[in-house]
Amino acid sequence: MSASSISSIHSENYRFLQEHVYSQAGIVLEDNKHYLFESRLTPIVRRLGLSSINDLCAMLKVARGAEVGRQVVEAMTTNETYFFRDPAHYEAIRTALLPRLKQQRQDVRKMRFWSAAASTGQEAYSLAMILLEAGLADWNIQILGTDFSTEVLERARAGTYQQIEVNRGLPASLLVKHFIRSGVNWQLREPVRRMVRFETIDLRKSMHTLGPFDLVFCRNVMIYFDAETKRKILEELHGTLFRGGWLMLGGAETASGIEELFEKQSIGSAAVYVAR
Ligand SMILES: C[S@@+](CC[C@H](N)C(=O)[O-])C[C@H]1O[C@@H](n2cnc3c(N)ncnc32)[C@H](O)[C@@H]1O
Repeated sequence: MSASSISSIHSENYRFLQEHVYSQAGIVLEDNKHYLFESRLTPIVRRLGLSSINDLCAMLKVARGAEVGRQVVEAMTTNETYFFRDPAHYEAIRTALLPRLKQQRQDVRKMRFWSAAASTGQEAYSLAMILLEAGLADWNIQILGTDFSTEVLERARAGTYQQIEVNRGLPASLLVKHFIRSGVNWQLREPVRRMVRFETIDLRKSMHTLGPFDLVFCRNVMIYFDAETKRKILEELHGTLFRGGWLMLGGAETASGIEELFEKQSIGSAAVYVAR
């Protein structure tokens, strides 16, 4: 069977796949994403011993809730991430948020953070390293990392990264201090790993039992949602933050339209949404 006949998608199946991914994860994939569907779904077709993506669709139509349906959605998520992405965010945390929290929480010595859409964990672990570097090792620090995809969270929990991953954004001094060699890979040391707990959570589900948090990262995921989904998620995120707590979004994302819930502030070159 040629590669093109495996990966070609009938137009009604293309619409079916768009709807499947939207209903399961809220992700909008437009009409021009043929290549993305083809390249991400062909490995599943081969693994299942099917002959085409159209056959995969036929299978999904009779077994909508099955594991294969979830695998298809997970394959369509974009999991790109790296250590200290948007360094200005971490600088704002280090210079403005942590000094304030340290002062306010002297008695309870506790802080809580959430990396929503954590992917393979680099965001949550970057934060953990910042907190250790800020001398908070003996505080009660909780960092929750969540994602829709169970597959990326398995990697996040393992805390093991390839050379190419630690080369992206991670300062050499932090690599030496917080990782140990594990064959050709790098393993995060225990003090960093034990600060972070990972859990599978769909951002479209109610989140009010998760908080309250001092900071929520929800970066580079809103771009995949439509306006209504995005608004609902921003309202839910607001409900998980302490008043004065921070929401950080990705560079291409804004919390416009919900000014009654968040005040946008600039801290250095970082945009921060402060919960009212
Ligand atoms: C591009 S990554 C962003 C990772 C990290 N926040 C960063 O900025 O580097 C987007 C992540 O959002 C997750 N995602 C997509 N839809 C989701 C949903 N409905 N609920 C939770 N996570 C979702 C994907 O699985 C993916 O790991």
